[in-house]
Amino acid sequence: MQTAEKLNLAYYSLRQQTDFKPKIALVCGTGLGKLAELIDGFQAIPYEKIEGMPISTVDGHAGRFVFGYVRGVPVVIMQGRVHMYEGYSSQDSVLPIRLMKLMGAEYLFLSNAAGGINYLDVGTLVLLKDQISQMVPSPLIGPNIDALGTRFPSMSEIYDKHLRDIVKESAKELGLRLEEGVYMQFGGPQYETPAEIRMAKILGADVVGMSTCNEAIAGAHMGMKIIGVSVVSNPAAGLGDVPLDHMHVKETMHREVQNLAKLAGRVIEKLKLEKKW
Ligand code: HPA
Repeated sequence: MQTAEKLNLAYYSLRQQTDFKPKIALVCGTGLGKLAELIDGFQAIPYEKIEGMPISTVDGHAGRFVFGYVRGVPVVIMQGRVHMYEGYSSQDSVLPIRLMKLMGAEYLFLSNAAGGINYLDVGTLVLLKDQISQMVPSPLIGPNIDALGTRFPSMSEIYDKHLRDIVKESAKELGLRLEEGVYMQFGGPQYETPAEIRMAKILGADVVGMSTCNEAIAGAHMGMKIIGVSVVSNPAAGLGDVPLDHMHVKETMHREVQNLAKLAGRVIEKLKLEKKW
């Protein structure tokens, strides 16, 4: 089935279950599902209840949309994302992002757990200013869906400059350390080798992970305004003294999620004021 057909099917199936119109879509990275606790009055729809929707199979990713309000703003939270390493094509891995846009979300807040290259301290929040995605296939390969966006979308400013300023201001007000950097997506599921991390560093990456870039590309293709924040869960391969391990990443993120939640809450509050929502 072509992407456009799949998307229509999933949208129709979702709309039979809710008429909610979110303004902001948030994506929770590994172990960051607690972000959903920001939400009041929620309704949850598991991905498996949506026809044609890819399912999260990874421990640490609940696999459902949560709809509700943060500071009075209607939002949808993807509690658990889908990754290419689960066996989904790049196109399928971004179907949920497209779905959230079709539901009404113009803003996309992406979060992830990441290995630190230039920022090694666990828990450091890194605001993404750009990304390197060429290690993984583009989610836009295949017939272009003209109704969503253009064939050759610009990626000159994937992470919106004005939104980045809002995030920086929010972090400052909250007294949170916030670095800025470039995220590089690897395919996974194996963690990188030290040699790959040296390569990433030479190419200009500050943090690495196995997600986010393809979602940001799909979002930018559809004209969404995007924020990306990584939470450093470990020094990247070869830069720390312990081997990388998913359980460890997940546990670390459970511990560190509070600052990200505070930051997201404040950013949403500011957007609400600015947009007069
Ligand atoms: N590499 C890739 N993905 C990750 C890492 C890492 O070091 N940490 C958390 N997700």
